[in-house]
Amino acid sequence: MNVLVIGNGGREHAIVQALKKSPRVDKIYAMKGNAGIGEIAELVNVDYCDLNAVGDWVDSHKEIDYTVIAPDDPLALGLADELERRGHRVFGPKKNAAIIEASKAFSKELMKKYGIPTAKYETFSDYESAKAYVDTCSIPVVLKADGLALGKGVLICKTREEAQDGLKEMMLDKKFGSAGNKVVVEEFLEGPEVSALAFTDGKTIKPMITSCDHKRVFDNDEGLNTGGMGTFAPAPFYGEKTAKEVYEKIMLPTVQAMNAEGRTFKGVLYFGLMKTKDGMKVIEYNARFGDPETQVILPMLKTDLLDIFEAITDERLADIEIEWESGACVCVVLASGGYPVAYEKGKEMHFGDLDKDIILCHAGTKIKDGKLLTDGGRVLGVCAKGENIEDARKKAYQNVEKISFEGMHYRKDIGIKYRDIERE
Ligand code: AMP
Ligand code: GLY
Repeated sequence: MNVLVIGNGGREHAIVQALKKSPRVDKIYAMKGNAGIGEIAELVNVDYCDLNAVGDWVDSHKEIDYTVIAPDDPLALGLADELERRGHRVFGPKKNAAIIEASKAFSKELMKKYGIPTAKYETFSDYESAKAYVDTCSIPVVLKADGLALGKGVLICKTREEAQDGLKEMMLDKKFGSAGNKVVVEEFLEGPEVSALAFTDGKTIKPMITSCDHKRVFDNDEGLNTGGMGTFAPAPFYGEKTAKEVYEKIMLPTVQAMNAEGRTFKGVLYFGLMKTKDGMKVIEYNARFGDPETQVILPMLKTDLLDIFEAITDERLADIEIEWESGACVCVVLASGGYPVAYEKGKEMHFGDLDKDIILCHAGTKIKDGKLLTDGGRVLGVCAKGENIEDARKKAYQNVEKISFEGMHYRKDIGIKYRDIERE
């Protein structure tokens, strides 16, 4: 089979590497891909948010048997619908289901309506009402721009002044563009965070191994929010008991709620969760694989990923047994100088002798005149497997030290978080 993978980040490189292992995959195409993906797939330079352009390209490339849509924007725009309408086989939720990520107002409303545990909140489209509410709510308080904002549209405000300034930036100054037309003002929750991803075809739910992201740019969770600076899997505080609680109180009710709303979700449903003193609560939903969660999840997958994807498309996920390796995986993200604010691209990358079992997931990279150059904020994920997180973490960092480019920075503490937490 020939497969087209939509996207160009570290997540997509991890997906392409996993698909490459399938004996049923002949050739992989990637739109638009990056330098690492280009080593194992043919790159296609089409803007994947231009639905017609993607549709026309797939129509005219009869050799494509299946398309996997990985990023949030094309899903939110309805690329799965467009390709299906043209008679193509697709992996990824339709637009009316992808809204679970694309609108925080929608997802909060869904959770309220179906009793799914989450932080208390109010939604506002009018600045003056939001301002008056923020004057009365308890501090800290969390502000969230309604729409997609590259994971950056969330402000945790420790003082009322910060909250008022944040509200103004979102709603009046349009710091996150139209994503801030509506704002969710939310209760601040405390506890360890975990990304629990699940495959679902709308009938069956098969949870993946869990992972923990590091969203802040600097060590000890300091500095600005980023797309994610590193991950480890599995989460040490998420054992069978928590998995059962999450399945019964969060995963199943969510999938059933989407069915009841006429928005059947087929694809990867990502539950961003917090383990609070009152139990597991939903912080956010994503309608897709996480980045950089995928980089630590898929290397641990023993089952053929294409078999799982197709079973979801055909609504027979119940028939597939999904197996995972034991042990752990750690991914350290190398970023461009200045990221997540302004950064330069086009820096040449240098590599020493890396260990054979290190998995590199390219994010913002490209080849120019035969040289490997940086081409984005997050540049590379250096991933290592080990018997446990500490073992994997050591291997990953030993290899990070052999890689360099001008301005490169990374967190030194990926995998340390939650080390002393009670295990389950
Ligand atoms: P989100 O984009 O919704 O995942 O939010 C980004 C980050 O902000 C999360 O990973 C949390 O660390 C934090 N966050 C979001 N909502 C809350 C909340 N209600 N209480 C505490 N922290 C939150
Ligand atoms: N790592 C967080 C996300 O993919 O949204």
